[in-house]
Amino acid sequence: MPPQIRLHQILDWDSPQQNAHLRQELAAGLLQPQAHIAPKFFYDKLGSRLFAAITELPEYYPTRTEAAIFAEHLPAIRQALGEDFTLIDLGCGSCGKAGNFFHAGVLPSRYVAIDISVDFMRDSLQQLKRELPPIEMIGIGADFTHELDLPDDLASERRMFFYPGSSIGNFSPQDAGKFLQRLADNMDASGGLLIGVDLIKDHALLEAAYDDSLGVTAAFNRNLLRHVNARLDADFDIGDWQHVAFYNAGETRIEMYLEARRAVSASWPDAAGRSVRRFAAGERIHTENSYKYSPERFTALLASAGFANIQLWTDPRGWFALFFARPPQQEFKRPL
Ligand code: AVI
Repeated sequence: MPPQIRLHQILDWDSPQQNAHLRQELAAGLLQPQAHIAPKFFYDKLGSRLFAAITELPEYYPTRTEAAIFAEHLPAIRQALGEDFTLIDLGCGSCGKAGNFFHAGVLPSRYVAIDISVDFMRDSLQQLKRELPPIEMIGIGADFTHELDLPDDLASERRMFFYPGSSIGNFSPQDAGKFLQRLADNMDASGGLLIGVDLIKDHALLEAAYDDSLGVTAAFNRNLLRHVNARLDADFDIGDWQHVAFYNAGETRIEMYLEARRAVSASWPDAAGRSVRRFAAGERIHTENSYKYSPERFTALLASAGFANIQLWTDPRGWFALFFARPPQQEFKRPL
């Protein structure tokens, strides 16, 4: 019998309505003068597995560095989270980070795992439930970056939002501020946010992390086109596209693109017949930004989103930071 987890599937990527919406979004992005594909399309089943492989690469320091910060500061983190809390894992992926947490003895009463990659999340959560049966586990298939739709019966007290891995860097700073504000609005004074943030560092280190020697990040990026072909019935020839990643120091972000190796075109069916997009040799499709912060800038972003009591832990090299923030204690946000 599969282990007892509760599942709420808010987003069904394959429902006809959602599929039509996603197809429209993809087509609109591809037809822009600067073509783009939103990073959420990275995470089909294979994309989620490729991302899990990225986190094991020697060049991709964020996951390892964040884990070391957790290990080093576990007592302080445990104290910040307190007892009898609900851990709400935003973008749980393989649930590996939460799992490490639980196995290290930081145990919530309830674990809510939210991810856009619904099948991957369900399988991972079932596995975690097998390992830790006493924790109540709820899986939510949703695009939480768009809308945070928590179950009505989820206790409003001691909601601890968990957003590790520097995924906040995939928003623009302005959108990150709005997202953080939405989190603050979904917790009462007993809640908190534990969030991992990648810090500005040597450019060569940053660029190697997003262009590894084994080519896993390149495969992750190019897999987007496989996903687009499947979803949009498009005919991208993946062999025509190469991975490009570089650090834009002015914007303090890594930018990722797919670049046409030669003049190519891609087409897909539309209401009028077929849409065609032509790309010149060297033309790029933008696929991701990954912003890096200074501790001061991210502290200011949290404060402007309504958080107070901000704590920060970092590693000895100052490569990555883990923040814990609470809403101001005296003030209740909207009733939950
Ligand atoms: C999910 N996110 C935090 C990763 C990052 O580092 O921006 C996605 C990624 N893209 C390429 N490598 C990893």
